[in-house]
Amino acid sequence: MRQPRILMCPPNYYGIEYEINPWMSRSRGSVASEARQQWQALHDILVSLGVTVELLPPQPGLPDLVFTANAGLVFRQRFFSSRFRHDVRARESPHFEAWFAAHGFTVEHLPEGVYFEGAGDALFCGPTLFAGYRIRSDVRGHQHIAQAIGKQVLPVELVNPRFYHLDTCFCPLAPGEAIWFPEAFDAYGRKVLQAHIPRLLTVSEAEAHRFGCNAVVVGRTVIHNTGCERMAEELQRWGYRSIATPLDEFLKAGGSAKCLTLRLDGEEAAVWD
Ligand code: ARG
Repeated sequence: MRQPRILMCPPNYYGIEYEINPWMSRSRGSVASEARQQWQALHDILVSLGVTVELLPPQPGLPDLVFTANAGLVFRQRFFSSRFRHDVRARESPHFEAWFAAHGFTVEHLPEGVYFEGAGDALFCGPTLFAGYRIRSDVRGHQHIAQAIGKQVLPVELVNPRFYHLDTCFCPLAPGEAIWFPEAFDAYGRKVLQAHIPRLLTVSEAEAHRFGCNAVVVGRTVIHNTGCERMAEELQRWGYRSIATPLDEFLKAGGSAKCLTLRLDGEEAAVWD
């Protein structure tokens, strides 16, 4: 059995200091003590499930550094560092790169001028990498990754600004199984996902707005935000254990459970051999 390893970053400097997605409003700031509690609860759930949680040191002036999913894409011992679309987040990259270099990963870069936002937009389901593009990542970034890792990469267009990263509307559970919110994709993207993933668990619009798809999968356990009861019941019927934990402070930045984590040993649904 493999030992799950996840990178997180404590929310010491987390806050809503700019607006780069429709969820963020500087007039709706986060409450530091609440954010700390919610982050800690997620952290403790992961530890209780046997996950080794690695911590990236928080940095003043980088309020979104908590969203480690966007650091880059991990493939075996290779780390493809993100090229963020927004300058305010591009400043995070040196910190992520330093951590990965210090922890035995080979740090690789995408071509200049090609945007790519890491595991936020690139998720394995089985041997295939599903890749969201248009709002944050470029399709060229995904093509570059496809060549570099020699895996099939299927780009799907994201059409709804509220679901600006693939991990806000799609969550692989196991090879051939995923959670999704179909309205976040265009008709072609929906077809691609339906053609390649036989079992798709559809969330309602209300649950999508609670970031139900932004879940962390550890073994057969799925950790997600509160307010997704119907999804939780469905997951149980599918043989998963679901754990809801409040993450409202992070919704204010357009993130939830999945965004706050980066799996270092390969996502649960990924098949790399
Ligand atoms: N405020 C951050 C941004 O807009 C949130 C990132 C959420 N991360 C994610 N993987 N969806 O970039």
